Amino acid sequence: MTTTTATPVVAHTRDELKAAREALPSRDVAAVMTMGALHEGHAELIRAARRRHDHVVVTIFLNPLQFGPKEDLSRYPRTFDDDMAICRDAGVDVVFAPTPDVVYPDGDPGVRVSAGPLGEVLEGASRSGHFDGVLTVVGKLLHLTAARSAYFGQKDAQQLLLIRRMVRDLDFPVDVVSVPTVREPDGLAMSSRNTYLTASDREVALCLSRALRAGADAAPFGPSAVRRAAREVVVEEPLALVDYLVLVHPQTLADVPEWYRGEALLAVAARIGTTRLIDNTPVVVGPGGGAIDVFSDVPTARAEV
Ligand code: PAJ
Repeated sequence: MTTTTATPVVAHTRDELKAAREALPSRDVAAVMTMGALHEGHAELIRAARRRHDHVVVTIFLNPLQFGPKEDLSRYPRTFDDDMAICRDAGVDVVFAPTPDVVYPDGDPGVRVSAGPLGEVLEGASRSGHFDGVLTVVGKLLHLTAARSAYFGQKDAQQLLLIRRMVRDLDFPVDVVSVPTVREPDGLAMSSRNTYLTASDREVALCLSRALRAGADAAPFGPSAVRRAAREVVVEEPLALVDYLVLVHPQTLADVPEWYRGEALLAVAARIGTTRLIDNTPVVVGPGGGAIDVFSDVPTARAEV
């Protein structure tokens, strides 16, 4: 495996990306796709990819297709210079940072990837068309980067599931690797949107990870115990306006029935001030159960392989 400490090559156009990719000595390329405003969660994805592949291509593209008309596209943080520093430190070879007209030269694409029913629940229920926009750009970026593997965060569990489904259902020749959620020391899941939080919002936001932890701790006692324990935490925090707090099957995203034992996803979304945050933890429900990995004491969790 080669080690890179140099400043990454920056490609803004398709031709520049192609040239940068072709200049790489090995075809063993992993992609890490981002919308910029990079933080330690993104850095962990990059490091996980770097450990297993000769080269890493990071994409930084604020994809308009996945934002609704009332969402935060215009105020989304743009921190390109800081992003480059993180990419350099994490050993990225190529940064692909296109503008929308490079990715969508004919304007909004008429043909898109459809996320189907799994894209209509949870995040999709309040963000119509969001996952079609995500899958369309992920599909395009997989083609453009020609990556063999692509790394995504468990933080966006529904997105990860849908990307896995797309790769399987549409036979994309790529391995999808997931990386556990990276958290602040106090439990808050890292997110580019955390920069929107005021100091008091941030205190309120901690109830999300606390609720997940409480729910996971109740996992040995079955689904309703998990839901009850998690709900008890968020109702204590009236400034967190909960959109959903669910315990669902990790593949179907359907609520698990009371007799269910095994792996499930405990997921929450809430509006805090002007900011909508999401968080989740995989849990094993049943005797000896609990959170899988996420709340371990290891500060930066390792990628699953
Ligand atoms: P973005 O929100 O920038 O996230 C890029 C990647 O980083 C995603 O795979 C996301 O799950 C991961 N990530 C974010 N926060 C994380 C954390 N705290 N721990 C671990 N991983 C984390 O997700 C998107 O961009 C876009 O939808 C994208 C896939 C790039 C398509 O536009």
